[in-house]
Amino acid sequence: MEHNQRNILITGAAQGIGKGIAQACLDQGANVYLLDINEEALNATVSQLRSIYTTNIEAFACELTDDKSFKNALYKGIDHFEVFHGFCNSAASSQGIGPFETFSDEDFNATVNLSFKIVWTCLKEEISYLRENKLTGSIVNISSNSAIRGYAFNSIYAASKAAVNNLSQSVAKEVARDQIRVNVVSPGTINTPGVEAYFAKEPSAKEKLEKTILLKRLGDPIEIGNTVSFLLSDRSSYINGQIISVDGGSSIY
Ligand SMILES: NC(=O)c1ccc[n+]([C@@H]2O[C@H](COP(=O)([O-])OP(=O)(O)OC[C@H]3O[C@@H](n4cnc5c(N)ncnc54)[C@H](O)[C@@H]3O)[C@@H](O)[C@H]2O)c1
Repeated sequence: MEHNQRNILITGAAQGIGKGIAQACLDQGANVYLLDINEEALNATVSQLRSIYTTNIEAFACELTDDKSFKNALYKGIDHFEVFHGFCNSAASSQGIGPFETFSDEDFNATVNLSFKIVWTCLKEEISYLRENKLTGSIVNISSNSAIRGYAFNSIYAASKAAVNNLSQSVAKEVARDQIRVNVVSPGTINTPGVEAYFAKEPSAKEKLEKTILLKRLGDPIEIGNTVSFLLSDRSSYINGQIISVDGGSSIY
């Protein structure tokens, strides 16, 4: 067991990749604290996971781009769990899609907020908590292969994810002296509700995309979760400041 009652906080855990991360950590014996803005989906996920796993599963619905809101959620979690050993910042979304020059200022600001500032907000509170309490820990931020390869018609999201990669490496350099590790998992295309909804509208897109993946299939959220769980555990104790693509080989296609 990678975790054996270690306490892990996961953002964006109501569905999709965040939920897969929660499942993978639970499979390895973790207690999990799940945060998401979507209270209804979060409650449904908690009920489902509690019917499968016996370790402690708690959740709190909150807006994660706001530092007061995240800090409040974090300290509610500390009241319950006493200590956190690992954090995964998975929550993100984007607004607006289309040719680069047509993005409005509002869409630009919203996307940077929802896919970059959200990680900064959570990361700084997590680091402050660990340092103030002289705790070691492991943090994983979820980025995207679009950060490495670019993403036509979703350029601000891709640039925000590149900022997540870079921020994570800078912060890893700052906090390593305190035995706090920061890594990034960079997913390829993963079968999540959002991706499924897109393929329902554009069925030919799925087939085209699968051709560009060495393994010729989309990923499953649990496959991201398994890598995150490993990085959050002491089994990865010498991996630090890395950006690890989990993408069936699409980034080298
Ligand atoms: N699905 C993919 O193919 C894919 C590929 C590359 C990267 N990613 C990244 O993986 C992560 C998860 O993606 P997903 O596909 O599971 O997305 P998703 O939309 O299915 O899930 C994201 C979750 O985050 C929550 N969330 C979003 N903004 C929030 C906010 N401001 N405050 C609180 N909660 C918020 C949502 O409610 C949702 O439950 C994201 O960082 C995404 O950019 C996904």
